[in-house]
Amino acid sequence: MYSERVMDHFMNPRNMGEIPDADGAGEVGNATCGDIMRITLRVEENRIVDAKFKTFGCAAAIASSSMATELIKGKTLDEACAVTNRAVVEALGGLPPQKVHCSVLAKEGIHQAIDDYRVRHGMQPGGDEEKHAP
Ligand code: FES
Repeated sequence: MYSERVMDHFMNPRNMGEIPDADGAGEVGNATCGDIMRITLRVEENRIVDAKFKTFGCAAAIASSSMATELIKGKTLDEACAVTNRAVVEALGGLPPQKVHCSVLAKEGIHQAIDDYRVRHGMQPGGDEEKHAP
């Protein structure tokens, strides 16, 4: 059911944990499945220098958070915002259709953490134009 890369990120998650005194934090949940994801960021000069996650959820949610944090590390806030859930799914070598919403949760967690950073620094939150995408 899952690709090798999903299994790898599920069995050996990257960036698991929480950044103390994070510059931005996001917590999102999916009301249907009950899964919860928390993303914390370290930001320096508008660039994400570290990202960590804590996910209480299914294998696809854990693999998606692991891959999503890998994808955004080193990116500017704008570049990280442009990482779609499809990009996460592709990087994972695909997800079963009924598990795509798990990657949406990861993307929403990242957007929320970035918006939290922006609001704390007096910037406009970026919004989430993709929120309702599958
Ligand atoms: Fe809910 Fe995967 S089943 S995030």
